Amino acid sequence: MERKDFIEQVGMSGAALLVMGCFGSCTKSDGGGGSSPNPSNPTKPVDFTINISNSPFNVLQNNGGFYVDTANNVIIAKTTSGMLIAVSSLCTHQSVTLEFQGNNNRFYCPGHGSNFNTAGTVLNGPATAPLKSFKTALSGSLLRIYE
Ligand code: FES
Repeated sequence: MERKDFIEQVGMSGAALLVMGCFGSCTKSDGGGGSSPNPSNPTKPVDFTINISNSPFNVLQNNGGFYVDTANNVIIAKTTSGMLIAVSSLCTHQSVTLEFQGNNNRFYCPGHGSNFNTAGTVLNGPATAPLKSFKTALSGSLLRIYE
């Protein structure tokens, strides 16, 4: 085999390997977009966006307003001082869906009367564990809720 023939054959094989390598890595790395779940926790992290100009989210334009996102089990509220906050919507006692009491600036459980402050800390039981809190970021009228 002459040197020129050898380089042509190796060159073709190398190019083929590069293409195959790209296919392999593209398949592995693109699992549908978004953030990857924690391997120790197979549930997908909370990360969604709502437009607070549109119904039913426009209740969040008013201090004391709140919205429960049942798909993510998150309650989003606008505090009396105008901060947009988000915590898990299920009471840590027996998983009853919470409400936000704007006049008291706290999360209230109609199940057995537990109350949580705006950070999710228990104010009174029977619940003993705090609510999980989420980050919020407002850009125009788009509100992102994420971990
Ligand atoms: S379920 Fe909330 S206090 Fe019992």
